[in-house]
Amino acid sequence: MLQTEAEEDITMKPVICIVGARPNFMKMAPILRALAAHNPPIPMLLVHTGQHYDRDMSDKLFEDLALPHPDINLEVGSASHAVQTAEVMRRFEPVVDAHGPSCVLVVGDVNSTLACALVAAKKGIPVAHVESGLRSNDRAMPEEINRILTDQLSDRLYITERSASDNLAHEGIPAARICFVGNVMIDSLLNAKPKAVDPAMTLRTHGVDAAVLGEPRRYGVVTLHRPSNVDDQHTLSDLLHVLGEVAAQIPLIFALHPRTKANIERFGLLNLIKPECMFLLPPQGYLEMLGLMAGATLMLTDSGGLQEETTALGVPCLTLRENTERPITIDQGTNTLVGRDRQAILDAAGEILAGKGKKGRVPEYWDGHAAERIAADLWNWLK
Ligand code: UD1
Repeated sequence: MLQTEAEEDITMKPVICIVGARPNFMKMAPILRALAAHNPPIPMLLVHTGQHYDRDMSDKLFEDLALPHPDINLEVGSASHAVQTAEVMRRFEPVVDAHGPSCVLVVGDVNSTLACALVAAKKGIPVAHVESGLRSNDRAMPEEINRILTDQLSDRLYITERSASDNLAHEGIPAARICFVGNVMIDSLLNAKPKAVDPAMTLRTHGVDAAVLGEPRRYGVVTLHRPSNVDDQHTLSDLLHVLGEVAAQIPLIFALHPRTKANIERFGLLNLIKPECMFLLPPQGYLEMLGLMAGATLMLTDSGGLQEETTALGVPCLTLRENTERPITIDQGTNTLVGRDRQAILDAAGEILAGKGKKGRVPEYWDGHAAERIAADLWNWLK
């Protein structure tokens, strides 16, 4: 059968897929696989903005997730929000001009997401946004501003949970643009789970004997990186104090974001880390983190993605924030919001340690096939 002119066009013009920061990589990996596996294959170009650039924060995750080497790296690096966003825009515009994409596909809510969506929208290039419609309703979070603006700029909006469509409707986005596909991050998780690294090996790599976890192993995992939790000396100090109290009951393994590590050192808070029960590791690879999480008794975090991953793994999660943009992890999953209140954290941790943590269930369409749904929809939409 003869191809129509439009189909010919699509096969000629790539979808430009954007990654920039760590949480983008696990979302994009299954999408790239699904675009390649689609019949016919959907041509793509992978652009890394370079927002994250350290081996720990970028290259290692590319390897763990079997992401292809980016076709283009904009190498923007770290800077203030304005400078970083502007620099991504400045460097991305010529890429769009050179390649004339059929669409620009962005994921998540980092500065690179918004910057590339804005460049594309101003040039009349369609924008597809994966993980649309999540709202914390807290504009003090830089990501919330990125979410709202990226969704306004997007022509096709893929959502991970149904509540997201209410948020988008509230902001005037027509229902016809929204497509419920499920959660691509869970595609990555299910795909990688058999390859997860044994926590004992991860600890050993960093000079910690797994015997510290006891037999059977019991431990909690901590990640902290939100500016609201780690950029203020008193807040960070209070959090480390209460984590020390939890660690007196169960050993805690920290996977430290560079921002948090720098602030612990800058504020002189290393003395709050109890060496016998609080273990500081550098940012972890995807397979190492997955192994740590899957074997954990509890997670303490301010990350967005880890709230979802622990729900998928059935591991109780205490979120050290006042709000979440991922309410399904609370309504259906294993997540509990505890904010920064000492007593709330200790009470919730006590419940989990007593075996009364939330069991939860895996939400609809968090089934390992979200990226395939995106590829199928994208093809029909671009046609
Ligand atoms: C960014 C995202 C956040 C995401 C987080 C995951 C925005 C607004 N924020 O926050 O949504 O949850 O990534 O990590 O986009 N740094 C390094 N090496 C790196 C990257 C950063 O050392 O490879 C240090 C730099 O000192 C930098 C700081 O970390 O200034 C913060 O990096 P940045 O990308 O600005 O924001 P994140 O806090 O990582």
